[in-house]
Amino acid sequence: MKTISPSILAADMLNLGEEIKKIELSGAKYVHIDVMDGIFVPNISYGMPIVTAVRKATELVLDVHLMITQPERYIEQFIQCGADIITFHVESTTHDEILKSIDIIHKRGKKVGLSIKPNTEVDTILPYINLIDQVLVMTVEPGFGGQSFIFDTMKKVSKIKDIIISKDYSIDIEVDGGVNSNTLLVAQESGANIFVLGTAFFKCDNPCEFTNLLK
Ligand code: DX5
Ligand code: ZN
Repeated sequence: MKTISPSILAADMLNLGEEIKKIELSGAKYVHIDVMDGIFVPNISYGMPIVTAVRKATELVLDVHLMITQPERYIEQFIQCGADIITFHVESTTHDEILKSIDIIHKRGKKVGLSIKPNTEVDTILPYINLIDQVLVMTVEPGFGGQSFIFDTMKKVSKIKDIIISKDYSIDIEVDGGVNSNTLLVAQESGANIFVLGTAFFKCDNPCEFTNLLK
């Protein structure tokens, strides 16, 4: 399965309903919702009320990206708000809490992703890779939209892809940050199948241009 996952961080918040319709028209199967706490990342975005509102506005998969410390504190609440996939950072909590959170999310019938920052090695997620549904490889330093794609992270995408193929796992690889019509093709070549698009998506004239690139 391949899909784009437009990030509403770059959307016009005053017209969020219209922006979600644009996501639906684009052929995207996912909506990416970036939650930031100002501690794990040096920015604050939004939380449960926005997830609740987006849930009411669309049937698309809510792909919630938690850039918060100790995400275990809020996982249940984001599930109740309507999150379908909860991705949190391997750098944001302990080994025991990661295992517990994976278990809780699955017990509630939702999908779980683990995310690694650009400077975090692939090895840090290997203990969990057979337990999760998605790996989110950050292609920018998390915290802000509109940054430039870090091409060096593609080595990590390829390494994860090789592991998934060699072990016959069915895990999605999502890339996030600085993705546009050029870097999407590079990430797809490297093995990614889910593409978060913030700035590039909401400033483009033809929202379908990105879905048309998926092969
Ligand atoms: C950054 C977020 C990304 C960001 C993507 O911390 O996780 O999802 O919103 O925005 P662009 O596509 O503009 O880099
Ligand atoms: Zn994100």
